[in-house]
Amino acid sequence: MRKASIALIASAALLSTALAAKPVTFALPEESVPVDLADAEGEPVVNACSTCHSLEYITTQPRGKGAQFWKDSVAKMVNVYKAPLEPADADAIASALARKFG
Ligand code: HEC
Repeated sequence: MRKASIALIASAALLSTALAAKPVTFALPEESVPVDLADAEGEPVVNACSTCHSLEYITTQPRGKGAQFWKDSVAKMVNVYKAPLEPADADAIASALARKFG
């Protein structure tokens, strides 16, 4: 029991030292729109798809997977991850992605 209390006090002391440590700062790379999405057709994609993750999640997908792949990908973002998209906008974005990336 006594050993446990000592261990508890020691870990509390360690934790408070850790919390008092200076914050670490680091520079993130500038977020930029990939060239494949930097046009009028890409604009709705940029607006709808960049809030949760990098747009490179999209542009680094293998090419030529077909329209159904993009429809399913967008549906997954909406249904699983709750991307806030109206069904008509989701369809338009899926079609734009299929035209751009096959
Ligand atoms: C509400 C948050 C959110 C939004 C908005 C969002 N995504 Fe995602 N997306 C995610 C999450 C979470 C993952 C999975 C990350 C992981 O597994 O590392 C993901 C992963 C992906 C992937 C990688 C393959 C996969 O299926 O995991 C693609 C492609 C993708 N998103 C496309 C899109 C597109 C296109 C849009 C716009 C219609 C979009 N995302 C908008 C949350 C979002």
